[in-house]
Amino acid sequence: MKRVLTYGTFDLLHYGHIRLLKRAKELGDYLIVALSTDEFNEIKHKKAYHNYETRKKMLEAIRYVDLVIPEDNWEQKVSDVKKYYVDTVVMGSDWENDERFEALRKYCDVVYLERTEGVSTTKIKRELGLQRAVNSVDQIPIPKHK
Ligand code: CTP
Repeated sequence: MKRVLTYGTFDLLHYGHIRLLKRAKELGDYLIVALSTDEFNEIKHKKAYHNYETRKKMLEAIRYVDLVIPEDNWEQKVSDVKKYYVDTVVMGSDWENDERFEALRKYCDVVYLERTEGVSTTKIKRELGLQRAVNSVDQIPIPKHK
């Protein structure tokens, strides 16, 4: 079984994300997404609209995604690759030649996929005027009775 791993925030899920995940899955049999936690996004000076749990549930509902794990620091990549027996790490072409991914070539294949033109979370936020919207809203309702 060939295992593929990708990293990202995947906020306000859009078609560029879906295409990336579809092509990533086609490179193997089992796709793992390391999803940036809200705390890690803070370190990256990024703030997601959907919080981690919501983003995770949305990714888990996508047919191409087999497993979602947290990404909470810059240094975890080598241990992720070893722990999950990863054959290929996949990223969008915006990450091409980034040393953090290039360094993984000692342990697995690294593949960059062409980004989908014309769409990004930042662009959606800007065009919908969401830059100052309430952040990290938890969209998952808490059940009244367990
Ligand atoms: N991605 C892509 N095509 C797009 C947007 C994103 O292939 N149009 C890929 C990225 O290259 C990355 C993954 O999807 O591998 C997750 O990207 P993420 O940063 O979460 O999404 P963006 O839309 O790029 O978010 P932002 O605008 O906040 O950077």
